[in-house]
Amino acid sequence: MKSVLFICLGNICRSPMAETVFRHIVETNGAETDYNIDSAGLISYHEGESADSRMRNFAYQRGYHITHISRPIRTSDFYEFDYVIGMDSDNMSKLRRLRPDDAKAELHLMTEYCRNVEADVVPDPYYGGAAGFTNVIDILEDACQGLFEALNG
Ligand code: 4NP
Repeated sequence: MKSVLFICLGNICRSPMAETVFRHIVETNGAETDYNIDSAGLISYHEGESADSRMRNFAYQRGYHITHISRPIRTSDFYEFDYVIGMDSDNMSKLRRLRPDDAKAELHLMTEYCRNVEADVVPDPYYGGAAGFTNVIDILEDACQGLFEALNG
């Protein structure tokens, strides 16, 4: 069993989208029984909420249905998940501070796995317009494909 936890700030835009795209790729490849996939946020402000309606609408236009309910990251996640994947450098520095030294989780930046799209980070779309949300999906489709190949290579 491989386990992957996607992380962003609020867990209502980028990481639920990443979870949904990655799960779609895993299912398309018939590998769903091999994977535990989830997402979480670095802040608890949106705990219990569905994903942002703008993110859900742009996702729907690409054929994705986001069902995740926001939850904050917990210390036990670093022991339960093999890969904890942040969306930007601020996420990564917070994850490095939170990760206990004896935890098994490897921390990675989502865009490490990009193959075709050029992006340093998955930028926070929350305070921007439509282009920010479609850009998030463009980056995540490429990076999640790269991640799947890295984990199954
Ligand atoms: P996310 O976007 O980290 O991609 O879920 C954000 C959602 C909420 C906030 C910031 C970013 N916020 O400040 O509430």
